[in-house]
Amino acid sequence: MARSGTGWTGKTKMSTMSAKHAILGVTGSIAAYKACEIASLLVKQGVKVTPVLTKSAAEFVGAASLEAITGSRVIKEMFDSSTNANIDHVSVPLSADILIVAPATANILGKAAHGIADDWLSTALLVTRAPILFAPAMNTNMYEHPAVQENLRTLHERGCHFVGPDSGVLACKTVGIGRMMEPPYIVEAAMALLYPKHDLAGTKVLLTTGGNHEPIDPVRFIGNRSSGKMGHAIAQEALNRGAEVTVITGPAEVQPPEGATFVRVQTALEMGDALLERFDAADIVIAAAAVADYRVDDPATEKHKRNGGSMTLRLVENPDLIAEAALRKRQGQVVVGFAAETSDVERNARAKLAKKNLDLVVANVVGTADSDFGTDTVRASIIDATGARDELALMSKATLAERLFDHIVAMLDKKRGSPIASP
Ligand SMILES: Cc1cc2nc3c(=O)[nH]c(=O)nc-3n(C[C@H](O)[C@H](O)[C@H](O)COP(=O)(O)O)c2cc1C
Repeated sequence: MARSGTGWTGKTKMSTMSAKHAILGVTGSIAAYKACEIASLLVKQGVKVTPVLTKSAAEFVGAASLEAITGSRVIKEMFDSSTNANIDHVSVPLSADILIVAPATANILGKAAHGIADDWLSTALLVTRAPILFAPAMNTNMYEHPAVQENLRTLHERGCHFVGPDSGVLACKTVGIGRMMEPPYIVEAAMALLYPKHDLAGTKVLLTTGGNHEPIDPVRFIGNRSSGKMGHAIAQEALNRGAEVTVITGPAEVQPPEGATFVRVQTALEMGDALLERFDAADIVIAAAAVADYRVDDPATEKHKRNGGSMTLRLVENPDLIAEAALRKRQGQVVVGFAAETSDVERNARAKLAKKNLDLVVANVVGTADSDFGTDTVRASIIDATGARDELALMSKATLAERLFDHIVAMLDKKRGSPIASP
């Protein structure tokens, strides 16, 4: 009954929806209690967080809080790692996209500067090849000590990143430099390292995602299995790149990410109205929803009862939402559609591109073990008037979202620079 307008699947390096993985190392400072807020802010940004407590940090903050916030086991022991792959001291740091140490004591900075690996966190600092971000926190005398200053210089020269410390009243009641920066600044610095592209600032992105429920009667509907995962990845990538994001979402398992404005709809007609209402204001419009092709003609106002026989439903075709909306496309706007294709991918998708007045079509496979509704990976090609990219390569939905916006940004730049109206 419904068109499979989207599709994805499989298992690559990325096994969850999270686009990025951060190790959050917490060391033995009075500021360690703020690690819970740092973890919470990272999780809200869609980052998967593996928390690590040093022995001293465990005196300041409870593992249970960090576990509840992150949904991940807290790593404390080095020697568990030989039997538990989830806390392995080599594979976990290698899978991370960033290693954040907040708060960072004088001790961990000294160990990192000198290559000492006597616990899980200091070992991970030597294993990882991801960016390392330290948020130092200590008493002013400790911070200003030549040994600490030399360690900081060494780490700087090796390419480590720092946020803070700040000046102010310290826990020891003295005033001076050494306070850990507040969690939002630490998370901002981490996000800038995780997502160096910030090329959508000031840009409005409008996205449709999820499926539709087309009512049969007040309690029944015709629906589809759209999970909303692709839409979530697209919205998250747009937010990471600084866009203002509005998501029109039909029924889906996955909710839009924190930071996006969202409009909930049920039916294709409601989705169409919401899309048309917001279309003109958007710079980029992406139709990733699995829109129902048909709806029940004249749904019953009372619940259907069994009558001992058969029942016939008459279906009528829904409008092609993105094709109708794209008729209004103005110069400088980029409009993207999704298409599930099984054969002749490039030819079919290019035909759709022209027929629907789109700038890009993402052709994707549905119904296979590694590319379907609800999976974290997708086989997809991004197609424009000049040809196809990626040729149905298997990738995470987060990677597809990133490549899609790379392409869109290049297109926007061209359109903005061109005096010729788009076709
Ligand atoms: C109450 C208290 C507060 C502390 N605060 C700090 C601090 O803010 N910065 C710091 O470098 N050390 C601080 N320390 C000392 C560290 O906990 C100590 O150097 C420890 O060995 C650090 O171990 P770790 O780096 O493995 O967590 C504090 C100690 C105590 C008892």
